[in-house]
Order: sequence, then structure tokens, then C-alpha cells
Amino acid sequence: MAKSLVKMNVNGRAVEGSVEPRRLLIHFLREDLNLTGAHIGCDITHCGACTVDLDGKSVKSCTVFAVQAEGARITTIEGMANADGSLRPLQEGFRMEHGLQCGFCTPGMIMRAHRLLQENPNPSEEEIRLGISGNLCRCTGYQNIVKAIQYAAAKISAAPRKEAAE
Ligand code: FES
Ligand code: FES
Repeated sequence: MAKSLVKMNVNGRAVEGSVEPRRLLIHFLREDLNLTGAHIGCDITHCGACTVDLDGKSVKSCTVFAVQAEGARITTIEGMANADGSLRPLQEGFRMEHGLQCGFCTPGMIMRAHRLLQENPNPSEEEIRLGISGNLCRCTGYQNIVKAIQYAAAKISAAPRKEAAE
């Protein structure tokens, strides 16, 4: 099958590759760029484990062809840490509030939460639950994920924290 050259910016770095038109963005990221943080949990747009940020929107990268990302600016979980390796508030929140168990959903969950907090810096518990409703977690029961996002929101905005109900 004929291949196309695609160019995009991933985590602040200009990258390019030669891909078949059917190649999914998640496969391009994981296999061609070796960015294996975004996971494949279903391949059918259901679980959100493959979520990345694409031009300011959360997208499930198993649902986007690499050629559709031509010219895009993409952030993956690998692009979330500070340059010195220290954790950003969301990452710290997941750690402090035990927002993960097996960790499979965590990269996608953090990338979705990152965009959610860009859109709504001080979300209510309900808004957080709605905001992450496209991302599935089979371990935590979500409560500590909500707390982790609230932790980050409070740290980023220095706003009083809205406690999640037990
Ligand atoms: S792997 Fe993309 S939504 Fe599940
Ligand atoms: S921590 Fe295991 S799937 Fe979410």
C-alpha cells in the first residue's frame, strides 16, 4: 500500500514518518516514535487508555489516522513531566491521592484530566466525573481519581478544594 509522509509536533519535537493511510495515530506514536505511554485497551474508542492531547483537544488516538494528525501539535503522557523530571500537579495528585492501582488507564486519564483543567480550572466533582466519563478504570472505582484531579485543580489555581463525597 502506498505510504504518505506525515509531519507533526509531538511533545515539543518536530517528528515525521512514512505511514500507510490506514495507520492509526496510536500505532504511529507507540511503534514509530517509541512513545509507549499511551496504551491500547480496546482499539474501539471505548476505554480512553490511548487518550492524547491534539491541538487542544482530548482525542482517543486509536480513533485517529496518523495522516489526520498531519501538522498537529500533540502532547502525550511523556510530555507531561517538567524538564527537570519533577512531577506536575496532576501527576503529583495521582500519587498523593492513590489515583491508580495497576496504572493501565493512568496515562490516558491524566491526559484527559489535563485538558479538563485547561477548560475548567476549578471543576466540581460532578464536572470531573462527566469530564472523565470517556476514560475507563477497572481498578480504582474512580473516587481517588476524582480526588487526584481535585488535588491538581487546587494546587494549580490555589482555590479552596471541593472535597469528593465518600
Ligand atoms: S484503545 Fe483507544 S479507546 Fe481504548
Ligand atoms: S488503575 Fe487499573 S485500570 Fe485504572
